[in-house]
Amino acid sequence: MLYSPINYQGNKSRIVDRLLQFIPQGTTSIHEIFCGSAILSFASNIEQVYLNDTNHYILDLIEFFCQNEAERIIERTDEIIRQYGLTNTFYEGRNQYIELKHEGLSHYNREAFNRLKFDYNRDKDISKLFTLIIYGFNHYLRFNGKDEFNIPVGKVDFVVSLRKRTVDYCKAIHNKHITFSNSDFRTQTLYEGFDETALFYFDPPYLITDAPYNTFWSELDEKDLLDLLDSLNEQGLRFLLSNVTESNTLINTFVKEYY
Ligand SMILES: C[S@@+](CC[C@H](N)C(=O)[O-])C[C@H]1O[C@@H](n2cnc3c(N)ncnc32)[C@H](O)[C@@H]1O
Repeated sequence: MLYSPINYQGNKSRIVDRLLQFIPQGTTSIHEIFCGSAILSFASNIEQVYLNDTNHYILDLIEFFCQNEAERIIERTDEIIRQYGLTNTFYEGRNQYIELKHEGLSHYNREAFNRLKFDYNRDKDISKLFTLIIYGFNHYLRFNGKDEFNIPVGKVDFVVSLRKRTVDYCKAIHNKHITFSNSDFRTQTLYEGFDETALFYFDPPYLITDAPYNTFWSELDEKDLLDLLDSLNEQGLRFLLSNVTESNTLINTFVKEYY
């Protein structure tokens, strides 16, 4: 089981141990075409990892974890927390805070969080983005049309579990040789020059569930993806697909038929 400190929406932490069993013997590279926080790649023992996503912010964050030791990231985050006057219950304890139901620490952090958000949207310092995700609502990573981070304050702060996840995630990443790309999944070069020892993992936005990035995913995208899988299959390339066929009363007929 591997968790990332950013709790990326739709991440595969909870099912990664089951997914790992689907990686065929003899796989030498794993290619996450919709990588998000790339939990499968980092939990696997495959060293060569190719990560692609249209969201460059998630790639920037992975690069940040890749280029820095966990201790330095935690130190820098604590500096930002101090500088802006956010709560830090890991050091301060919780006794001095009164946490109202459904609000957690949000009323203590709202003003400092908004100042941090304002500064981040001007200087785009990646360590500030990491701090915003920790203190932001549901740890969402979302930007508006002007490329501004636009999540409101959340209920929690830099608790011990997020610190541990930072250490575990960095450790997993530091063992990998990573190639990044920031392309749409239809880009042909993502699939060129590989053979059956490569495994392509597809974990796209889901047509019938909620996540900030699902809004932009259409039935046409879904059809294009299923066509692409057929074409990879014809070329003898291996792939693994995650998707949701039924959710409450909704059914994804495209994927259901494809399965
Ligand atoms: C379900 S999430 C992947 C979660 C990932 N498996 C993890 O463990 O964190 C889907 C990802 O697809 C990306 N995405 C959306 N449309 C895309 C497209 N057309 N091409 C490539 N990536 C896309 C989103 O930015 C999002 O990060």
